[in-house]
Amino acid sequence: MWLAPFLLLATSFVPSMQQDGNTSTTYPGATYPNAVSPDPDAAVDATFSPPYYPSPWGTGLGDWASAYSKATAFVSQLTLIEKINLTTGVGWEGERCVGQNGAIPRLGFRSMCMQDSPVGVRDTDFNSVFPAGVNIAATFDRGLAYARGQAMGAEHQMKGSDVQLGPVAGPLGRSPEGGRNWEGFSPDPVLTGVLIAQTIQGIQSSGVIACAKHFIGNEQEHFRQSPESAGFGFIFNDSLSSNIDDVTLHELYLWPFADAVRAGVGSVMCSYQQVNNSYACQNSHLINYLLKGELGFQGFLMSDWAAQHSGVSSALAGLDMTMPGDTVFDSGRSYWGPNMTIAILNGTIPQWRLDDMVTRIIAAWYYVGRDETSIPINFDSWTLDTYGYEYFYADMGFTLINEHVDVRQEHADLIREIGSASTVLLKNINNTLPLTGKEKFTAVFGDDAGDNPYGPNGCSDRGCDNGTLGMAWGSGSANFPYLVTPETAIQNEILSNNGVFQSITDGFAGMQVQALAGQASVAIVFVNVDSGEGYIDVDGNIGDRNNLTLWKNGDVLVTNVSALCNNTILVIHSTGPVLIGNYSSNPNITAILWAGVPGEQSGNSIADVLYGRVNPSAKLPFTMAETREDYGTDLLYIPNEGTGAPQVNFSEGVFIDYRALDRANATPVYEFGFGLSYTSFSYSNLEVLNVDNTSVYTPTTGFTTAAPTFGGFSNDSADYLFPANMTQVPYYIYPYLNYTDLETAANTTGYGDNSFVIPGSQDGSPQPLLAAGGAPGGNPELYDVLYQVTATITNTGSLPGAEVPQLYVSLGGPYDPNIVLRGFEKLSVQPSMSTTFTVDILRRDISNWDTVSQNWFISNYTKTVYVGSSSRTLPLSATLS
Ligand SMILES: *[C@@H]1O[C@H](CO)[C@@H](O)[C@H](O)[C@H]1NC(C)=O
Ligand SMILES: *[C@@H]1O[C@H](CO)[C@@H](O)[C@H](O)[C@H]1NC(C)=O
Ligand SMILES: *[C@@H]1O[C@H](CO)[C@@H](O)[C@H](O)[C@H]1NC(C)=O
Ligand SMILES: *[C@@H]1O[C@H](CO)[C@@H](O)[C@H](O)[C@H]1NC(C)=O
Ligand SMILES: *[C@@H]1O[C@H](CO)[C@@H](O)[C@H](O)[C@H]1NC(C)=O
Ligand SMILES: *[C@@H]1O[C@H](CO)[C@@H](O)[C@H](O)[C@H]1NC(C)=O
Ligand SMILES: *[C@@H]1O[C@H](CO)[C@@H](O)[C@H](O)[C@H]1NC(C)=O
Ligand SMILES: *[C@@H]1O[C@H](CO)[C@@H](O)[C@H](O)[C@H]1NC(C)=O
Ligand SMILES: *[C@@H]1O[C@H](CO)[C@@H](O)[C@H](O)[C@H]1NC(C)=O
Ligand SMILES: *[C@@H]1O[C@H](CO)[C@@H](O)[C@H](O)[C@H]1NC(C)=O
Repeated sequence: MWLAPFLLLATSFVPSMQQDGNTSTTYPGATYPNAVSPDPDAAVDATFSPPYYPSPWGTGLGDWASAYSKATAFVSQLTLIEKINLTTGVGWEGERCVGQNGAIPRLGFRSMCMQDSPVGVRDTDFNSVFPAGVNIAATFDRGLAYARGQAMGAEHQMKGSDVQLGPVAGPLGRSPEGGRNWEGFSPDPVLTGVLIAQTIQGIQSSGVIACAKHFIGNEQEHFRQSPESAGFGFIFNDSLSSNIDDVTLHELYLWPFADAVRAGVGSVMCSYQQVNNSYACQNSHLINYLLKGELGFQGFLMSDWAAQHSGVSSALAGLDMTMPGDTVFDSGRSYWGPNMTIAILNGTIPQWRLDDMVTRIIAAWYYVGRDETSIPINFDSWTLDTYGYEYFYADMGFTLINEHVDVRQEHADLIREIGSASTVLLKNINNTLPLTGKEKFTAVFGDDAGDNPYGPNGCSDRGCDNGTLGMAWGSGSANFPYLVTPETAIQNEILSNNGVFQSITDGFAGMQVQALAGQASVAIVFVNVDSGEGYIDVDGNIGDRNNLTLWKNGDVLVTNVSALCNNTILVIHSTGPVLIGNYSSNPNITAILWAGVPGEQSGNSIADVLYGRVNPSAKLPFTMAETREDYGTDLLYIPNEGTGAPQVNFSEGVFIDYRALDRANATPVYEFGFGLSYTSFSYSNLEVLNVDNTSVYTPTTGFTTAAPTFGGFSNDSADYLFPANMTQVPYYIYPYLNYTDLETAANTTGYGDNSFVIPGSQDGSPQPLLAAGGAPGGNPELYDVLYQVTATITNTGSLPGAEVPQLYVSLGGPYDPNIVLRGFEKLSVQPSMSTTFTVDILRRDISNWDTVSQNWFISNYTKTVYVGSSSRTLPLSATLS
């Protein structure tokens, strides 16, 4: 039963002496990288990536049918040059958005605008800065995830952006030090999967294409790109390889991408680094087999900016759009563009593959309704000047480039709401909180309470840690319209009650801090840790954090204040977990709050919680461990292969974050899923309904249709020369040729682009479907409901509040985590009232990945469900029959 599809699939592999997409390693055969850990018997080195060709063509699966029929009608009218224009960016700073492809003037189809970031519209003005993904994770609130996505999508739409480059599920958060973890949601794949799906649907409901990124294994900033690392003094030739076995890929890192595809995401971005020693943007196993084959992705895959490393290989391995289009920023050269024209004419890239790329791009455009929502681009990423160059790098086309359209609408209210709904109350001795605002003497401490002396946007891409951490650094940021600091918001609160308020934002001012702390009836200490993307170094942190302790003298500040004030409240803004020593047991530290990276309304959000207008309901979306070692994973900070690609073995398998601490029986300071309220809740009455115990999981079988082509093209290379009277923008990538001789036109010495063609990769004949595939998100039966679990949640306190009951499953096998999160809901409950928590358990939720059958299966081990208020407080349990 399981074997048949596997055999079919295995024969389509063509063993080669070359590593897929890479010439350095011998490919040992059609074996899947097996579990490297923790099962030593199954250990097979996950340092190779098996090839899988041809690249699956989109067919309009799921609810994509109508978008596909519109797209194929559109694509059928296009010339070869017009098609290639859609696949290739015009080059870095060639147009106004961070990435744009070529236009089709003949049909009035303007160049598409790909614009950062996952927290709003980057590199412009009069936009909002939303809370980071990690804050949405802390809300555990589907509705807020959707609302934020919809609002961000609306801002992109109003600026003329076609694709919002977010949300993020890679990094997932393998290691807490990871610089960009905050852009994503949580190291738990289910929490991330649910929230990325909601975010995507929110963004796309505003008529903008979302982009799930970075696919996949992008778990650290160090060594993701060798030229970038060279700038920091690390010399090696190829990007690091994240070596991930097949089980870990499926049960952990790919899981949220399955949810993203199932939610209809229009685009996916492949990442900089290699996976199993093949670059992610030309790794046929990742793209052809997993993303387009197994997950049935119908949209388009674009490269991260300069993450493409070959022309032909990346095309055949399934890349659909190169961004920003040039080989090296501003080189005027491209792996695609004219090289694609040549590769089609010389027969290396089959027409069906190009037609598939273009159909996917246009289908995504129709799928979200761009045909109705698109407006002209009205901003410029490279300057905020009103007038400037349309073609920035070329200094050409002086014109109106920034219309300064205010796209913020009422989003500040939502941002403030998410900020408070994502603030996790970790400690609250004797109801210290909420404060009344009538405290006799309120003192606020810490650089993190106040303004950046350079202004909220004073550091490019937020690349510094000055003042309160409203946003972390890198391309995942956006410009603030303003940043409400905690200092301002708390002062407003106290002054409205005619109270006494003083603050010291210099955390190094020991004497002054001590003097003020001794006078205060309540001291609120703000501390932070920052991190970001690897092109910016802040205080020696090259994107990733060097340590997990507080920045800006934070620990000394907390110690100084709490030694003198027995009512010290600690607020932590951070991009991820922080080591907080013994603050949890220090009696003078009466309350601790984690507020994450909350965006422009930071101060108002925290004041709403401190002063009780909002009853906290957030939960930690990661573990706060006692030591760095407790996480069981770490980053690679020094290249480990000489000038070869650094190797990072994900040998911990699926055991990251709480799964690692559970396995090691380590006690966290605050566990995953933990968070207090100003009221209290009790759990009772667990019931398991066996919804479906008869249905049998059916592997998908059968074949695809043959690859379709749309329209034809002339084989005469003279037809593809630059139009004689055309003014070329310097450095701009066009698909036209300068010479009719193709080799001369490619302008390479013997096509030395490390492209090679694996036999079978050009084959457009019907191909076997994958057992675990069949629909966007994978085999649809994975989403069948097998059980329904209910429990009663009662508000036992005296205030209205919201609780996030969580359902965990023990899959029961010797190599399974103790428990894995599988369900949660944010539920509002009035005092003394009860409500019902209901979770559907899907087939996928109780399945494991089998590397041999290449499919999910339900093991014979006993499965147990647990329900409670955190990963360590699980009062209810039952066995699944
Ligand atoms: C290709 O795109 C470029 C840049 O947008 C544009 O100038 C050119 O006219 C396009 N070519 C065709 C044939 O549409
Ligand atoms: C065809 O063109 C591509 C793109 O320039 C080049 O990489 C490839 O080597 C060429 N192949 C042949 C067989 O000429
Ligand atoms: C909380 O209040 C009770 C009663 O006033 C007191 O006995 C206890 O010591 C307090 N706990 C702490 C940690 O301050
Ligand atoms: C602001 O940030 C810059 C860059 O990190 C740093 O050099 C400077 O010391 C910071 N200033 C303050 C006042 O924190
Ligand atoms: C951790 O890193 C931060 C930021 O670079 C730094 O301020 C702090 O001193 C470091 N902590 C330790 C213990 O070295
Ligand atoms: C707590 O604060 C009081 C002053 O209110 C101080 O005397 C005491 O030493 C502090 N305790 C700690 C553990 O810092
Ligand atoms: C905290 O300090 C204040 C004034 O310093 C004192 O009145 C109060 O009793 C102390 N509370 C505790 C629990 O030690
Ligand atoms: C460029 O030349 C073509 C024919 O050679 C002509 O059809 C077209 O109108 C010309 N375009 C411009 C802008 O002069
Ligand atoms: C074609 O020639 C022009 C003028 O020399 C040059 O700027 C451009 O880069 C060339 N384009 C290609 C694709 O070789
Ligand atoms: C074609 O691609 C190669 C790299 O494979 C590059 O060196 C060359 O400049 C490209 N040609 C053009 C015209 O961009």
